[in-house]
Amino acid sequence: MDKQEARKRIVKLRKVINHHRYLYHVLDKPEISDAALDSLKHELFQLENEFPDLITPDSPSQRIGGKALDKFVKVRHQKRMLSLQDAFSGEEMEDWQKRLQKLVPREKLDYFAELKIDGFAVSLIYRDSIFIKGATRGDGKTGEDVTQNLKTIESIPLKLNKEVKKGEVEIRGEVYMTNSVFKKINQERKRKGLSLYANPRNTAAGSIRQLNPKIAASRQLDFLAYDIVTDLGQKTHHQEHQLAHSLGFKSDKGKYCSNLKGVIKFWKGIEQKREKLGYQIDGIVVRVDNNRVFGKLGVVGKAPRGAIAFKFSAEEATTVVKDIIIQVGRTGALTPVAKLKPIQIAGALISRATLHNEDEIKRLDVRIGDTVIVQRAGDVIPDIIKVVKEMRTGKEKKFQMPKKCPICGGKIIRPKGEAVHRCFNKRCALIQKRQIAHFVSKNAFNIEGLGPKIVSQLTNQGLINNVSDIFTLTEEDLIPLERFDKKSASNLINSIEQSKEISLSRFIYALGIRHVGEETAINLANHFTSLEGIKKAKLEQLARVKDIGQVVAESAFKWFNGKKNRELVDRLIRNGVKIEKQKRIKRKLSGQTFVLTGHLEQFTRDQAKDRIRTLGGDISSSVSKETDFVVVGSEPGSKYDRARKLGIKILNEKEFLRILSNPR
Ligand code: IVH
Repeated sequence: MDKQEARKRIVKLRKVINHHRYLYHVLDKPEISDAALDSLKHELFQLENEFPDLITPDSPSQRIGGKALDKFVKVRHQKRMLSLQDAFSGEEMEDWQKRLQKLVPREKLDYFAELKIDGFAVSLIYRDSIFIKGATRGDGKTGEDVTQNLKTIESIPLKLNKEVKKGEVEIRGEVYMTNSVFKKINQERKRKGLSLYANPRNTAAGSIRQLNPKIAASRQLDFLAYDIVTDLGQKTHHQEHQLAHSLGFKSDKGKYCSNLKGVIKFWKGIEQKREKLGYQIDGIVVRVDNNRVFGKLGVVGKAPRGAIAFKFSAEEATTVVKDIIIQVGRTGALTPVAKLKPIQIAGALISRATLHNEDEIKRLDVRIGDTVIVQRAGDVIPDIIKVVKEMRTGKEKKFQMPKKCPICGGKIIRPKGEAVHRCFNKRCALIQKRQIAHFVSKNAFNIEGLGPKIVSQLTNQGLINNVSDIFTLTEEDLIPLERFDKKSASNLINSIEQSKEISLSRFIYALGIRHVGEETAINLANHFTSLEGIKKAKLEQLARVKDIGQVVAESAFKWFNGKKNRELVDRLIRNGVKIEKQKRIKRKLSGQTFVLTGHLEQFTRDQAKDRIRTLGGDISSSVSKETDFVVVGSEPGSKYDRARKLGIKILNEKEFLRILSNPR
């Protein structure tokens, strides 16, 4: 993306992010999920990273939280409540460590890793060990006084367990709701016919922002401490957790890790246990354990350098629809599929999403060029769940279902009362599978491991629709399928990769052109030596190729001049197929034309022709100036006279035999 394009996209992204942040953080009425919003933010961060001079002070990347609601008294935080940067992979964590190590080359970096609870950050102030004030984060500098509501949370001590300091002590942490409480509340609402809450996080946030503390009390919220802001002599973050625990807070499940390897192991372990925790987390928080080093690393923007949110990959992300294509299933059903700008979702690279049918396209109003939210919920083909319409530029293109089948050209009908368009040609899917099977066969692309069963599976799943799709398959496409595991998926992708380099004759044969078998493909390749040559060839030129008659020439000519076929060839090349240039095989009689007349003793006419052809010579039925030799047997016809007249070299059977046997 060039800078001009990046600027446009950044401006759009900021507007959209701000809008959804407002809905989510200020009004508690999200329209898109956290993951989708995160994904938009992630893209903005990446673009701003690439073009740092496009960062403006009002970018969502430069601020956190929303505005404080007017209904509560505002509280100014003594120390700003910061936010965290995100990482989604071990590599990103290593990059983070490298950045830190550069800033503090002489310090040993060790870490404390803890759960990142999906809740609501608050600050608690204790004076002389008594809880006196609690506030929401708000915009980081100013929050809302929600003391009365926080007091209803039983896991927040109203008095610290021990007296650690005269004066004020500030503790920060997360207010959250357990899954079981959330479920109970929603069941109750359902019973009363009220609308259901979206998720525990928003329900917790909504409860804390209630003016009536009785409502907050009925919500059974929880609190987990992660930060002691006041200096109580703690040297490390893990000491801070121990201290918080001894003061009477829940301070849970964290782990000291002497290096990043330990952190990554912890992250993986927690992701596996995630479902069993009983409350929502969206990753872990990793913090440089030594508080002196943490302080030395400072703050960039609104986030401390020495801490990072190491998130689990979300099941949703945003990306762009590059194209909408049609896949034809085994039963002739046409499924529109969105080709996406590849994006990582829940550990897999996603490059397509199903659009199901025409009604679904209309319902979503999805267009080519749209920015969309994609969800992957363990299915093979992910879904588009929403179009981010605010990202439209006006250049998006609407999609129409085709009138003709892309495979067999048959008529497409959407039967009354059905949602699905169908090709009613019974042989259609069969044709498709046969074409693919021919394409991958031994004398064509020779793709090992792509037998008929797998081909069926891939076409039924809609992963391949035509032969060019074979070369866009990824391991991630295959792993979820029956019969596949990581190893067999990787083997197949490897053999596909290896098959990409192919000779011209095999390539022509693989195309499955009617009447063009292996021999003809070899002749075409030898004659034209390049694909371009064949594509450009006129019908007459094709008909002049060795062993090619009018019928074959017409079939090849028609094939190479068909729009769909040309597109297919282009797509194959675009998807990485490399055709080796054909070397013209110089055979003894190459370029020499023979005419036969009279009876030969040692050969039948056909045998003689065969011998000439195997040595590369051509046969003609009439004598002309272009004739090189006329082979004359007993009782020759008029061809003999004509040859003499034109002064063409005449061979008797003995001389002819000598030419055939003499290796020259
Ligand atoms: S430490 C320096 N630790 O995640 C920033 N935050 O994106 C202090 N969160 O605002 C954050 N669990 O609301 C920290 N164990 C944890 C956390 C945690 C949840 C939330 C918190 C914070 C946000 C950062």
